[in-house]
Amino acid sequence: MSFRIQPPAPARPNRCQLFGPGSNPKLFAKMAASDADVINLDLEDSVAPDDKDTARANVIEAINTVDWGSKYISVRINGLDTPYWYRDVVDLLEQAGDRLDQIMIPKVGCAEDVYAVDALVTAVERAKGRTKPVSFEVIIESAAGIAHVEDIAAASPRLQAMSLGAADFAASMGMQTTGIGGTQEDYYMLHEGAKYWSDPWHWVQTAIVAACRTHGLLPVDGPFGDFSDDEGYIAQAKRSATLGMVGKWAIHPKQIALANAVFTPSEAKVTEAREILAAMEEAKRTGAGATVYKGRLVDIASIKQAEVIVKQAEMIAQG
Ligand code: COA
Ligand code: MG
Repeated sequence: MSFRIQPPAPARPNRCQLFGPGSNPKLFAKMAASDADVINLDLEDSVAPDDKDTARANVIEAINTVDWGSKYISVRINGLDTPYWYRDVVDLLEQAGDRLDQIMIPKVGCAEDVYAVDALVTAVERAKGRTKPVSFEVIIESAAGIAHVEDIAAASPRLQAMSLGAADFAASMGMQTTGIGGTQEDYYMLHEGAKYWSDPWHWVQTAIVAACRTHGLLPVDGPFGDFSDDEGYIAQAKRSATLGMVGKWAIHPKQIALANAVFTPSEAKVTEAREILAAMEEAKRTGAGATVYKGRLVDIASIKQAEVIVKQAEMIAQG
């Protein structure tokens, strides 16, 4: 282990982030009643330019009036290349009450993007005497975003989470893909005439997880566009969970249960993790650094892996 200890990510459930356009207030009560851990009210790409002002006002009213229960409330502001973002930040921080937990910054390309929003948020918080600091989530969805991902992860103490936005990312990279996330038909290996599909999102996901784990953030997988394809969503979510991500977006309510199922460690996994911890306790008592559990080697690294699963299950149970 490095002398620098890896900081823990925020201990709150983040299995599913449910999105809804700020221009569609009919959805807000349904979002609040859902089983998503995080609510993302959108002012960015699901809102048409002519609706930006109305959407912003809708979202502020909803934050102040809807009963959101224990949900984590996040608002996606417009990108720093637009004329809308400063008004998003100022109005939200001046007019939305303490129920606002987080601002999500899309299309972040460098640490200075986060610095700029931090400076503005901090000024409004001080001017208004807000006592609860708003947290940040960023979306990595451009070539610059992934090239500077570690600097971005370290850019502000407000940062709690980082999501991959697969569609914008693919476009920025010039990838010849279709759809939002998931398997890409042309990304295959050929072996003895048979096609074997591989995962074009693997590298960017792993880079995001490494940056997040280094700086104590929650790594999250973004949208899966085809909401009629449950199996495709589950497969994508399982790959993300395997790589260390803690949750995934839902762009339709039917995706919420799928995300919660994948990102809640199963009973069997938790039981196995607890048994491994018990086996290692026993090994420690006899002075051994390794032992055998169900015919396979377990050692000190296995303790850490098992603890990840047990801690996640406990945190979700409390959440
Ligand atoms: N949150 C909560 N409820 C939602 C919802 C959402 N994001 N999207 C749809 N619903 C509700 C509908 O209102 C409908 O409710 P009802 O049974 O009471 O009538 C039910 O779920 C079924 O919806 P359905 O008819 O299948 O979908 P739709 O045509 O109404 O909406 C979308 C489809 C994709 C337009 C809509 O889901 C949506 O706006 N998603 C979010 C898009 C977004 O925010 N994108 C930005 C991030 S990528
Ligand atoms: Mg995007």
